Amino acid sequence: MIRELGRFERISAHSHIRGLGLDENLRAKDVADGLVGQKKAREAAGVIVRLIKSGKMAGRGILLAGPPGTGKTAIAVAISKELGRDIPFVHVSASEFYSAEMKKTEALIQSMRKAIGVRIRERRIVLEGEIVGLDYNMIPNPYNPTQKIPESANLTLATTEERRSFSVGGRIALQFLSQGIEIGDVIIVDKETGRVSRIGRSEKAKKKYDIGDEDLVPVPSGRVEKEREFTYVVTLHDLDEANARRGGIFSLFAPSSREIDNEVRQEVDEHVRRLIEEGRAELLPGVMFIDETHLMDIELFAFMNRAMESEMAPIIILASNRGFSRIRGTDIVAPHGIPLDLLDRLLIITTEPYSREEIRNIIDIRALEMGVTIDEKALEKLTDIGEKMSLRYAVQLLAPANEFSKLRNSSRIELQDVERAESIFSDVSQSSAYLKKWEEKMLGM
Ligand SMILES: Nc1ncnc2c1ncn2[C@@H]1O[C@H](COP(=O)(O)OP(=O)(O)O)[C@@H](O)[C@H]1O
Ligand SMILES: [Mg+2]
Repeated sequence: MIRELGRFERISAHSHIRGLGLDENLRAKDVADGLVGQKKAREAAGVIVRLIKSGKMAGRGILLAGPPGTGKTAIAVAISKELGRDIPFVHVSASEFYSAEMKKTEALIQSMRKAIGVRIRERRIVLEGEIVGLDYNMIPNPYNPTQKIPESANLTLATTEERRSFSVGGRIALQFLSQGIEIGDVIIVDKETGRVSRIGRSEKAKKKYDIGDEDLVPVPSGRVEKEREFTYVVTLHDLDEANARRGGIFSLFAPSSREIDNEVRQEVDEHVRRLIEEGRAELLPGVMFIDETHLMDIELFAFMNRAMESEMAPIIILASNRGFSRIRGTDIVAPHGIPLDLLDRLLIITTEPYSREEIRNIIDIRALEMGVTIDEKALEKLTDIGEKMSLRYAVQLLAPANEFSKLRNSSRIELQDVERAESIFSDVSQSSAYLKKWEEKMLGM
């Protein structure tokens, strides 16, 4: 619910990664969870995951530094898999902070707040049971008389112990219709808000009517009306947006990506602090992963540095493939183009270029993930390309090579398919060298 992994394409290049592939002693296995080699970095990441899970990393940062195609993004994705569902993980590229829709610092703070979860516990009075009776009382829609809408409904709910009937209003009845809820379903109705949730199909009803074998659930025990505890996780950003919307109905039509007042955020922070003091909520600091860090400028760095001091700050993971370079927006040259005061707070993990064997293994795993088989010679060729050009390019050539094998009515990528794909697609180093040559030619004219 609270994963904010960014666009689908960005993830799909890493879809073979299931975790960090470590044993109980946090030692990296040769090949596990879709990861190959890069053992020191994976073991370091494993320690970080432990620190995050025990709440000892909040407000601190990590820098993944290494040449392009050495698995920095892959390791960040593996960290997110290891953290599990409840801890938020936000994946952004620094280029996304620059947009026409909002100030760059606003985009950064929104991302940071998407990376902080709040687990809220609430006790609520609910009606719970299997629907054994449901009759609608339909009337013409006052705004469109050709349509009928429910004015009310008679609802009978049963548990293993009792059976009770209620007359419910149009708003609840409409939820039954729109969610396709019918006799034999087990539901929960929040008595205060009137929100209806369908839990599943009752096992008893299934026996009686013998329809489908979907999500079967037992008939609830106890009374129909009861107090239940609910826990759910939302992010600070979710709460900011909900709080900002209270402004009135017209804000419903406002574009979804827009700036949020600082006052709104302060209110949310205060409210969350109160819930925590009362023991009704706990904070789940998650991770904000910023890829292509060199695109951040001095203003963003300064802003982030300050924000990291707040008690409600996420863990920051940066990835950089630059050595010494200019900090954007200044003439200062610094390691990785990152200001020294920020560097001081970062734990650094380096990634190293892969051996031939490892490149071969990674390409093989990707082919497996895509569900394609690959001929020995074709795999050798792709390994050559991965070694000489870049791993990313070799991995990317799998998809077109697979299309060419299909054109031959073959279900196996062969050498000719890889060669054909290589002959028409370029690696970035080729395409940029090509354009550079063009520029020089134009200048010489
Ligand atoms: N150790 C690894 N094991 C398995 N796949 C990897 C590994 N390192 C990189 N990859 C895959 O190789 C490709 C390029 O790696 P990537 O993580 O994008 O490198 P970087 O972010 O350092 O430029 C991606 O598809 C990635 O999932
Ligand atoms: Mg990357």
